[in-house]
Amino acid sequence: MILLTGGAGYIGSHVCIALLDAGFDVVAIDNLCNSNRASLDRVEAICGRAPVFRHVDIRDEEAVFEVLRACGVTAVIHLAGLKAVGESSADPMTYYDNNVVGTMRLVSAMKRAKVKTLVFSSSATVYGMPTYLPLDERHPLAPTNPYGRTKLIVEEMLKDLYRSEDDWRIGILRYFNPAGAHESGLVGEDPIGVPNNLVPLVAQVAIGRRAKLRIWGNDYDTPDGTGIRDFIHVVDLAAGHLSVLRHLEQPGVFTVNLGTGSGSSVLEVVRAFETASGRSIPYEIADRRTGDVAICCADPSFAQRTLDWKSARSLAQMCADHWHWQLKNPDGYRDI
Ligand code: NAD
Ligand code: UD1
Repeated sequence: MILLTGGAGYIGSHVCIALLDAGFDVVAIDNLCNSNRASLDRVEAICGRAPVFRHVDIRDEEAVFEVLRACGVTAVIHLAGLKAVGESSADPMTYYDNNVVGTMRLVSAMKRAKVKTLVFSSSATVYGMPTYLPLDERHPLAPTNPYGRTKLIVEEMLKDLYRSEDDWRIGILRYFNPAGAHESGLVGEDPIGVPNNLVPLVAQVAIGRRAKLRIWGNDYDTPDGTGIRDFIHVVDLAAGHLSVLRHLEQPGVFTVNLGTGSGSSVLEVVRAFETASGRSIPYEIADRRTGDVAICCADPSFAQRTLDWKSARSLAQMCADHWHWQLKNPDGYRDI
């Protein structure tokens, strides 16, 4: 039995599908602060069987311990956390509490339950401003905002944990830019409020929920002047977690990028989404967003070598699947 924290969220619901499809049993815990329980009903519709769900906050150590014990959990995939960069600057203590204290309580419950296999969702944001590209796992770490610092603190904490008890098996995953949705159109990203990230914003413009996209700068040192990111299909990202679980058969701690190695500019995303949706995406050019970098792109070769995993889906597929989800669920999970 695998415990999935943040299992009702965007990436969590896709990881849940990957696990169930691979034959694992799953217990998902989530406090639903940024998600909807309905996502897991959709997972059941896709997989033909359901994960167990417990409405639990990861900071509630006793409740987490009880789930670990009662469900016979053997490994934890830890995605629960807060992820909005701007909000993390406005309210950093809430981010340290959820992301750092939450992980400390989770680890403490795992120690008591003698569950010592942990996969942690970190982020490429820990690299900060690239000093060279593409970003490999040895690139210096210098996050530029409190959200990124919570991820880096947890990474360091987990490495210290392994140094102190070398029977832990820990995988630290640095995600690049997840986008897209399950091909069924039944699960996808359902941001509460105004999305922070590019692809959900583009999708909401295409469906008519927003009048236009604001492109944060077209004067970067890139071929078309707009920022370049490594967008990775969320289904490929979810599959990466299975490879990581297989790799964790031996004790150790390892850190790996999950990206594609190929970047797309904001304008390329807009064009790909127009093609996928058959709709036009009105946009205007605005000032650069504070903290943005011109290019952020993964070197995914370590993942390919060690995990035998690489992303398979294209930007066109990502946009088509995201659009399928958006079209079927114009108001996300709230319309059911
Ligand atoms: P999400 O908000 O959709 O999912 C996170 C889930 O965690 C939500 O369901 C939320 O309700 C839950 N949660 C938050 N705090 C909790 C708590 N204290 N106890 C229990 N549940 C809690 O976000 P996502 O995009 O699916 O991200 C999953 C993980 O991946 C996060 O840790 C995030 O930082 C990381 N990540 C995401 C991205 C991205 O672009 N989506 C990129 C890099 C890393
Ligand atoms: C952002 C976060 C990063 C986080 C990542 C994934 C910042 C500064 N960084 O990164 O910490 O790990 O999301 O959650 O917030 N864009 C527009 N208009 C928009 C939205 C985005 O032009 O309305 C552009 C951005 O300027 C950028 C690209 O689209 O060039 C991608 O933006 P976004 O989806 O926010 O991802 P990141 O910038 O990589």
